[in-house]
Amino acid sequence: MTERQILVTAALPYVNGHIHIGHLVEYIQADVWVRFQRLRGHQVAYICADDTHGTATMIRARQEGRSEQQIMAEMSTAHQADFAAFGIEFTHYGSTDSASNQVLVAEIWKALRAAKDGSGTAIVAERDVTQLYDAKVGSFLADRFVKGTCPKCATPDQYGDSCEKCGSTYSPGDLKNAVSTLSGTTPEVRSARHYFVRLEPFRDFLKAWTRSGALQTEIANWLHGAFLAEELRDWDVSRPAPYFGFEIPDAPGNYFYVWVDAPVGYLASLTDAVATGTLPGPVARWWPKRHDPAFSDGAVEIHHFIGKDITYFHTLFWPAMLQTAGWKLPTKVHVHGFLTVDGEKMSKSKGTFVRARTYLEQIGEPAYLRYYFASKLNGKVEDIDLNLAEFTAKVNSDLVGKVVNLASRTARFVPALTAAYPDDGGLFAAGAAAADDIAAAYEACDYGDAARRIMALADKANAYVEAHAPWALKKDPAKAVELAAACTISLNLFRQLAVYLAPILPDLARQAGELLGAPITAWRDAATPVVGRPIATFSHLLARLESAKVQAMITASQAEAPVPAATAPVATTAAPVASAAAEPFAGEPLAPTIAFEDFQKIDLRAALVVNAEEVPKAKKILKLTVSLGGSEQRTIFAGIKTAYPDPTVLIGRVIVVVANLAPRQMSFGLSEGMAVAAGPGDKDIFLLAPDSGAKAGQRVH
Ligand code: MSP
Ligand code: ZN
Repeated sequence: MTERQILVTAALPYVNGHIHIGHLVEYIQADVWVRFQRLRGHQVAYICADDTHGTATMIRARQEGRSEQQIMAEMSTAHQADFAAFGIEFTHYGSTDSASNQVLVAEIWKALRAAKDGSGTAIVAERDVTQLYDAKVGSFLADRFVKGTCPKCATPDQYGDSCEKCGSTYSPGDLKNAVSTLSGTTPEVRSARHYFVRLEPFRDFLKAWTRSGALQTEIANWLHGAFLAEELRDWDVSRPAPYFGFEIPDAPGNYFYVWVDAPVGYLASLTDAVATGTLPGPVARWWPKRHDPAFSDGAVEIHHFIGKDITYFHTLFWPAMLQTAGWKLPTKVHVHGFLTVDGEKMSKSKGTFVRARTYLEQIGEPAYLRYYFASKLNGKVEDIDLNLAEFTAKVNSDLVGKVVNLASRTARFVPALTAAYPDDGGLFAAGAAAADDIAAAYEACDYGDAARRIMALADKANAYVEAHAPWALKKDPAKAVELAAACTISLNLFRQLAVYLAPILPDLARQAGELLGAPITAWRDAATPVVGRPIATFSHLLARLESAKVQAMITASQAEAPVPAATAPVATTAAPVASAAAEPFAGEPLAPTIAFEDFQKIDLRAALVVNAEEVPKAKKILKLTVSLGGSEQRTIFAGIKTAYPDPTVLIGRVIVVVANLAPRQMSFGLSEGMAVAAGPGDKDIFLLAPDSGAKAGQRVH
């Protein structure tokens, strides 16, 4: 087997929030892959960093009366402690706010500035952009910091870019009664110069690259369907001062938008890893320029692990930047889905938005979550569900019941392994023969398949132990030879499983190595049984997971539910924002009283969602097809995508719709009704549902 040289990155977590179990899906997935590749004898660097720049960091620093540097230092320490506690071992953990990143961003910018399209027009364009400006705070307002009334349908409390109710998009200046959520003041409309990277000239390149094998087919198809079939929109890469980030070298007073320097942070963190001696250099050994003759053999691999929400940045913008600046393009971008808990998106109020720290405090053992996530991952973009009951049942039955038990039931009976490996009826050999299939599953990030194959071997090993009952043999001194054989076999089968599980459960592998006096350091350790060694004193491996601890974790998470920083008032400004939430109907005054007859005019019906799908290019709209009974169907365009990013979860649900609303022509098609929901919008939209038993078409009175 030839040795591979592999650079692995996981997305750089935002400095503004703590690591939660959703993040861990990604960092554990990549860590397992890294450990697997190392066991196979390959050279691997696992690189990450904090993603530090942007308005949110600047605003938080002001709110807390601290410097951005203090926040970054504190959060970096917290992030790294959380990762370490989950056994996620980065080769280097850097920051996008580093000197090396500034140098690299400048280098890439220089290349972009010099680049021209086929007809000689510059890739970088400049235009004035009108934005809302909060004079009190002294900052331009990102769309999510502005709220107001939709200019089209007059729905209040809409964000600056589009209406969640009617789906129309507009510029923040069109919003009626606009209010800055930072200060509560009315923003001004101001114009400022912005810099754009024109992506259209890269379209042919991107069409080819996205089909080059670097992406999962479903991702490539989505990019081709949703973006690459039409002219690509220019990418706004600058923000006027004040902004926390890198100033654009040839445009003072303007800063690189955070998503410009974030992916460059991969390269910067790698550069720092080499500079500090953590990683053997040169940098080009891990990430060469495309035309570097020393690394033109294609043996170097670059793998990004990311969540589906940041696909666009990693598969369109980032390759275009690398292409222009002459760097090697990613070998693979591994995109994973989002974590749901008990079938629903993580929710602070339900206590399912669990921080890494809370898990550690309440449950402690990281192996449970590492194993459970691994058993659910399949290399596809599907969301993965943490079912809390299944979580407990699975780790107890698989890890404790099938794996650890092999050792705990046999390790104390004899002082040493037999001198030669006894006849086990071909069990160990069958386990060794599974190595390639299990390895292929790991390689493809189909850890669920790997876990199933490993557990199938564990079942056979347990059947062996049951049949030979060493605890019974132990009672009969005449059976000492058989006892030694049974224990040697069980412990070797245990060790073989520990080798296969080592990428997922590094601690268990270490303990198994210690128990048999033969450390697990390579995949091929599963090929040969260990004999003749003394058996170390058995120390406890993994305890059963108590479901009470899982419940305690949920309760503790519920108690934490913090006030989101972005909507809290800014401390340094004089006028406080109205003291929201505590008051009834705050932000949504009760509408004037209506007569019963008026209410009766609204025909609300229970409706069965027979189909739900995304609408190309609509960020907030889903297309619902609902049945009102029989062949009576309606198409409804609902602004609920921010809360239901995966439309398939809606299919089969009974919701409530306004069935007699005048049809409305929207840019996507005709909307023939309205789905009713509670909540302020964005991620907090809660569709109404009748109790079970309601039939499609029944009137809601
Ligand atoms: N800072 C950007 C990434 C920049 S990479 C150059 C970012 N940060 S993040 O903190 O929001 O997310 C970090 C990673 O965790 C992303 O890949 C994201 O998709 C992933 N996840 C965040 N929440 C998640 C779930 N609930 N479930 C699964 N993955 C999730 O995006
Ligand atoms: Zn509207």
